[in-house]
Order: sequence, then C-alpha cells, then structure tokens
Amino acid sequence: MAGSGTAHLRDTDDVLVRVENMVVEFPISGGTVHAVSDVSFDLVEGETLGIVGESGCGKSTTARATIQLPKPTSGSVWFKGRDISKLSDEEMRRVRPEFQMIFQDPISSLNPRRTVTEIISEGLRVWGPNDSWSLDTVPELMESVGIDPRYGERKPHQFSGGQCQRISIARALVLDPKVIICDEPVSALDVSVQAQILNLLEDMKARYGVSLMFISHDLSVVKNISDRVMVMYMGKTCEIAGSDELFDKPVHHYTRALMAAIPGAEVNVEEQTLDGELPSAINPPAGCRFNTRCPAATDRCRTEEPQITEVSVNHYVACHHPVLG
Ligand SMILES: Nc1ncnc2c1ncn2[C@@H]1O[C@H](COP(=O)(O)OP(=O)(O)OP(=O)(O)O)[C@@H](O)[C@H]1O
Ligand code: SF4
Ligand SMILES: [Mg+2]
Repeated sequence: MAGSGTAHLRDTDDVLVRVENMVVEFPISGGTVHAVSDVSFDLVEGETLGIVGESGCGKSTTARATIQLPKPTSGSVWFKGRDISKLSDEEMRRVRPEFQMIFQDPISSLNPRRTVTEIISEGLRVWGPNDSWSLDTVPELMESVGIDPRYGERKPHQFSGGQCQRISIARALVLDPKVIICDEPVSALDVSVQAQILNLLEDMKARYGVSLMFISHDLSVVKNISDRVMVMYMGKTCEIAGSDELFDKPVHHYTRALMAAIPGAEVNVEEQTLDGELPSAINPPAGCRFNTRCPAATDRCRTEEPQITEVSVNHYVACHHPVLG
C-alpha cells in the first residue's frame, strides 16, 4: 500500500477532530473496494484542511466516514476528545449537528418544494434554537450569506447556482456547527462565482468560528482557502503540509504531477504529465499505490509501503524517494 502512519498528527489542546488509521472498505460482488486505506489526519480549531486528489481517491468517503456515514471499517475518529466511532446511533445523532456538509451540486442538494426560509430554518425546527440562531434570526443569517431576506418565500429553482450555494452555507451554519465539510463546493460553478463562494466561506469561517474540511480534485482551488493540505491517492495519504509550504516545495511525485497539471503553474517540476491508467480500487498495487504511474518508482516501491515521515517542519510525505531540496 502507499502511505500509512500517524507521524503528522498533532498533539495540541486545540485539536478538534483526530482521525486515526481510518479504513473504509465496500464489499461488492467479486471483491472489496479499498476506498480509504489507513488514513490519518487532524483538524485544529479554526483551521481549513484541504483534501485533494483525483476522482475516486477516497476524498468524499474519508469525509463521510469521519461523520460515521458510513461507519469506518476500522480506525477511530476523535471529536472534542471523544471517539465518536464508538458511539451508538442515538448518541451519534446528537453529535452530528456539530458537523455540517455542503455539496457540489447546489441546486439539487436543496429540496425543490421548500422555500428558502424553510430550507435554512429546518435544522432549527428539528433541534431548536442554539447560542447563535433562532427562527427569528434566520433573516439576519440570510443577509450575512448575501441572500436578500425578502426572497425567503422563493424556491431554489428561482436562484442561480452561486446563490443556491449561499443558501446551502446558511443551512449549514444555522446549527452552529464546529466543522463544515465542503465537498467540491465550487466545482459546479462558473470561475467568477467560485471566487465569491470561496470568499464567503472564508468570511463565515472567521465570523462564526467554524473549522472546514475542504475537498477538491483541483489543487488550485484548495490553495488559497486551506491552512493545511492533504494530498490523497487511491485511498492513501501522499503528502500533508501547510498550504504555502506544499505549493512552494512539493516533495511527493504525485503532488508534483498534480501541480504540473495546473494550467499556467509556475512550479519547477520535472513530471509533466500524469501518465498511465488509475489502477483498480478493488485490486490496488502492492507497495506504494502510486508505483504504476510514478517516474521514480524502484523495486522497493513495488513491495514496501512507505510510511509518513517529516521532511521539514510540519511537512510530511509518504515516499521512499521524495524530491528534496
Ligand atoms: N457505496 C459505495 N460502494 C462501493 N464503492 C464505493 C462506494 N462509495 C465510494 N466507492 C468507491 O470508493 C472509492 C472512493 O470513492 P470517493 O467517492 O470517496 O472518491 P472521491 O475522491 O470523492 O472521488 P470524486 O472526486 O469523483 O468525488 C471509489 O473507487 C468509489 O468507486
Ligand atoms: S518514488 Fe516510490 S514511494 Fe515515492 S511516490 Fe514514487 S512509487 Fe511511491
Ligand atoms: Mg467525491
């Protein structure tokens, strides 16, 4: 396999979420899909963790299994010091409002039959008011995400994609969550609208003190919004570092190939293309999972899984032959 270990986990008081050795497998006829294979990460208060990698590398499954949807096959998920993977369904139901999700397709993720006010306030009707919001303050919340409260009686189809994503953000915020999981939240939007939604997420994060897990297949999208970035390949962690450090000095061959693919990227990387087919998640390569596509692969890479090690302060990589200095 490619990329195990927990060397990158932090041991500070402000760690909000700590995922250790998460494995998620889906049994299917004829085999098992190895969606997430021993992934560990943490999220400190007020931080944005970017999770990037190609389609199918396990980003959404990692995020969903963090909130136990589905429950991981193995591993633990600590939230505010409690291992939530051990909670009963009823106990987990009470924790879940602390985690909210925003999805890729803003229009279809909103109930078309409900008004915007009903959509945003639904959580309050189920859970009651919290320290930040009540049914009376929903118009204020709408205003803060840039939706005119006078449009509260309109239905989702009367709004643009970007406006629907603003509504999704308000719906997520109304429950006063600690963590918002943003799963490709701007991938379906025009580039100009993307920037507005990314700015809004940053504003909301600062204003309401939430932490973000921000998933994208596009490195250039996670760059500015993330404090820390984790690069995944075939259910494994390749590299994890502060966003600036990762973009300045990518050391994993897969990260470097992703960067070379960014149009107009001014990174000095030797790998120009990401050649070769993505192997099957039912039968992933032995050793480092990236070995079938890596220009630097050696025999060792084909047999021995690299462990995550620190290459510079807070910069970690799982590679036998990282590109250093
Ligand atoms: N319910 C499921 N049953 C079987 N396989 C699944 C299931 N959910 C996900 N998978 C598989 O697990 C792997 C990881 O999928 P996941 O959706 O987490 O990837 P992703 O990185 O989010 O991809 P994308 O960028 O396309 O959203 C893929 O091989 C996918 O086909
Ligand atoms: S050099 Fe080896 S361990 Fe490193 S990414 Fe390439 S195949 Fe994996
Ligand atoms: Mg996904």
